[in-house]
Amino acid sequence: MEPILEAAVEVHSHLGPDDERTLADDVLDGLTRPLKELPPKHFYDARGSELFDAICELPEYYQTRTERRILETHADAIVARTGAVELVELGSGSATKTRVLLDAMAEAGTLARYVPVDVSATTVHAVAELFADEYAELSVVGLVADFERHLAHLPDPVGPRLVAFLGGTIGNFPPGSRRRFLRSVGKVLGPGGHLLLGTDLVKEPRVIEAAYNDDAGVTAQFNLNVLHVVNRELGADFDVGAFEHVAFFDREREWIEMRLRAREAQHVRVEALDLEVDFAAREEMRTEISAKFTLERLRGDLAAVGMELVELLTDPDELFAVSLARVA
Ligand code: SAH
Ligand code: TRP
Repeated sequence: MEPILEAAVEVHSHLGPDDERTLADDVLDGLTRPLKELPPKHFYDARGSELFDAICELPEYYQTRTERRILETHADAIVARTGAVELVELGSGSATKTRVLLDAMAEAGTLARYVPVDVSATTVHAVAELFADEYAELSVVGLVADFERHLAHLPDPVGPRLVAFLGGTIGNFPPGSRRRFLRSVGKVLGPGGHLLLGTDLVKEPRVIEAAYNDDAGVTAQFNLNVLHVVNRELGADFDVGAFEHVAFFDREREWIEMRLRAREAQHVRVEALDLEVDFAAREEMRTEISAKFTLERLRGDLAAVGMELVELLTDPDELFAVSLARVA
């Protein structure tokens, strides 16, 4: 059915030539370190976003379904508690769990605006169109942007704001950057605003490791996809088949570490950087960490950035947590 009013949807892109340079600079740093590293935000081109959606459906990847269940159980209470009229979602991806929150806001009669923010242009456009169609009178302002650099481009709040950062993506920051990032989020909450933060919890290493080493090999494809991105964007000649996926739980740091291991010695040229890189046989390059949380770690991070926990929501098996926080 045609909506009576034209859906209010706009998408702004804040990614430009500067960001191509960011990728180039990140790759230059990463490939010349003694322990090579590639920065994780570059996983999410169109194919990477598709592969991530497939990861979310894997039997081993308990995070997505557990977080959805927590949201389903508590969405009404979250909406009542925050009085939120607008939902800003950082790293929204395909926003499948977001509906639970938007439905609860619509039910409460407070839903006014949804602001998805993601580096993946395809997903921001798709989600913006879809949600503007599905929710009558919802204004959608999509931002194709880097949440580490472009939060200043968020529109002014139209009322009490809820900023959602779901999926455990916060775990992909190393601990210091995590706090820097949370501090910057605290600044855009606005008057009476809240943060809704999804975090994976520390648990039996076997369970965590299985979630990043699925039998179908989707996570391996996702990890290897970053080499395709660097080949395409920077004219590199990585032989993708010559690398293999590695993921293990670092028990001391309590994070998952994703790596790519060279099956044999490799020589790689990165055209755009005029860079030649050698990999020894079995040399590993770090592609991502995914930190797991305890209540102490959560409280410590929030306290360090001047925020306080309002409510900690979890599932019966305590696999995952959704925290509601505000500026203290
Ligand atoms: N929120 C979704 C998706 C999580 S995957 C869920 O819970 O399932 C992480 C998402 O963050 C991806 O869509 C990716 O494109 C986005 N992302 C990663 N780094 C980003 C950055 N620096 N700025 C904006 N988006 C980013
Ligand atoms: N934020 C997700 C997580 O830490 C991202 C993710 C899942 C991921 N599987 C991955 C990133 C494999 C790189 C490789 O759970």
